[in-house]
Amino acid sequence: MRGNVFSTNWKNNQSLNAMSNSNVIFRVQPGGSLRGEARVPGDKSVSHRSIMLGSLAEGTTRVSGFLQAEDCLATMNAFRAMGVEIEGPVEGCVTIHGVGMHGLKAPTQELYLGNSGTSMRLLSGLLSGQAFDSVLTGDPSLSRRPMKRVTNPLREMGAEIETTAAGTSPLKIKGGAKLKGIHYDMPVASAQVKSCLLLAGLYAEGETSVREPAPTRDHTERMLTGFGYPVEREGDVIKVRPGGKLTACDVDVPSDISSAAFFMVGASIAEGADVTLKHVGINPTRTGVIDILKLMGADIEIIDPREAGGEPVADIRIKSSPLHGIDIPEALVPLAIDEFPVLFVAAACAEGQTRLTGAEELRVKESDRIQVMADGLQILGIDAQPTPDGMIVQGGKLGSGKVDSHGDHRIAMAFSIAALRASGTIEISDCANVNTSFPIFVELARGLGLDIVSIEGEIV
Ligand code: S3P
Repeated sequence: MRGNVFSTNWKNNQSLNAMSNSNVIFRVQPGGSLRGEARVPGDKSVSHRSIMLGSLAEGTTRVSGFLQAEDCLATMNAFRAMGVEIEGPVEGCVTIHGVGMHGLKAPTQELYLGNSGTSMRLLSGLLSGQAFDSVLTGDPSLSRRPMKRVTNPLREMGAEIETTAAGTSPLKIKGGAKLKGIHYDMPVASAQVKSCLLLAGLYAEGETSVREPAPTRDHTERMLTGFGYPVEREGDVIKVRPGGKLTACDVDVPSDISSAAFFMVGASIAEGADVTLKHVGINPTRTGVIDILKLMGADIEIIDPREAGGEPVADIRIKSSPLHGIDIPEALVPLAIDEFPVLFVAAACAEGQTRLTGAEELRVKESDRIQVMADGLQILGIDAQPTPDGMIVQGGKLGSGKVDSHGDHRIAMAFSIAALRASGTIEISDCANVNTSFPIFVELARGLGLDIVSIEGEIV
C-alpha cells in the first residue's frame, strides 16, 4: 500500500485538475415535485476530521458513511502523502492505520487540496506542529480565499508560515517550530479557525484556548473527545493541552445536513412534495437551516432522534408548505452558514420580503455567495438586492434562464432546486465542483423527482 502512495496521489490530483477544465452544465426542467425517501451522502466536516484524527490515532480506525467526494479525498490524499496507510473508500467505508501523534512523515511534494478550505485551514494548524516542512496548495478558488485568519494566530503561537502578499495560499509551513499555547478571541465565528488552533494546540506548550463570538460547528471537539483526547469547554471558550493521545475508534458519519438542505427547501417549495431524508446529522451547531425554514412556515418533522458515533442524527420529513419572508435572526447565521445559497431560493419563493444581515462571511466562501446568488436570482426575474453583509429578497415568480455557478458546488445545486418553481428551463454552468461535496446529486435529485440532466462541455 505504502509503495503506491504517491502514484495514487498524483492520479487523483490529475483528475481534480481535469475536472476543473471541463464545463459541466446542469439543465433543469421546470415544475414537478419531490417525493420519496433518500439518504444523502456523509457529512463533509465529519469526514475530513475522521481522516485527520484517525491518522494521528494509535490503532486502526474504521469509518463508515464517509463522504466519497473530492474535498474529503483531498484530505485523504494529503495524509497518504504523509505516510499514513488508508484503505478505501469502498461504499463509504475507510480503514485508517493510525501512526500516532508524532508518526506523520515529511511529504515529498506539495499537498494539493483542490477546492477544500476545510482541508487547508485545519491542516495549517496541524502541520505547524510537525517536525517537517510542508506546502499547501489549492485550485484557483481556494488560492483566493483568506488565510490570514489562520496564519495570524498560528504565528502568535510561534508557527513559521509564509503566504502570498495577499495572505493567500500557497502556505509554506516550516517544520520544527516550537509552538506555545495562546488564548485567542476569534474575530469571526469560524469552526475552521477554531479547529485549526485546537489542532495546533495539541502540539503547543501549555494551554491553547479559543473564544468563539457565536457557536460554530463543534465536530472537532466532539471527535477529539470520541478519540479519548481531553477537550474542555467553559461557556464560549474551548481549551486543549498537549501530551494527550488519540485512541482509534469507529466513526459513523451521519448524512450531511448541508446536502439535505437542498431537498428541505425543494420539498418545501414544490407543490405536493413529501420527502423523508434518512440518518441526517442534527448537531445543534448545524441546524440553523431547519430553524430558518420553520420560521418561514416550512413543514419539517424530526423523526426518531438518536445518537450515532457521538453525533445526534434523525430522519427528517418535509412536506410542501407556503413560505413567507422573514428577517433572518443573526444568531442563526453561523448555524446555517453553508445553506444560504438554497435559503435564498426559499426566500425567492416565499411571500413577501426576506432579509439576511450579519453574513459577510458568505462573500469569502467558494465564491462570493451574496453576489453570485443575487446575480443568478435577478437573471431569473427575482428582485434580490445584495448588501455588504447579506441580501434583501422579494418573493416573486421565478422565470427561466442561464445562470453561472462560478464553480461553487452549493450555488449549482441551489439553482437546480429553484427549477421546481420556475416557469421555464434553468441552465447552470460550471457545475463540476458539485463533485467536491455531493457527487451523486443529479442521480439522487432525479430519483426524488427533479427533472435534471448533467451535460459535459468544454470551457470556451
Ligand atoms: C467548516 C466550517 C465552515 C463551513 C465549511 C466547513 C468545517 O467554515 O463553511 O464548509 O468543516 O469546519 P467556517 O468555519 O470558515 O465558517
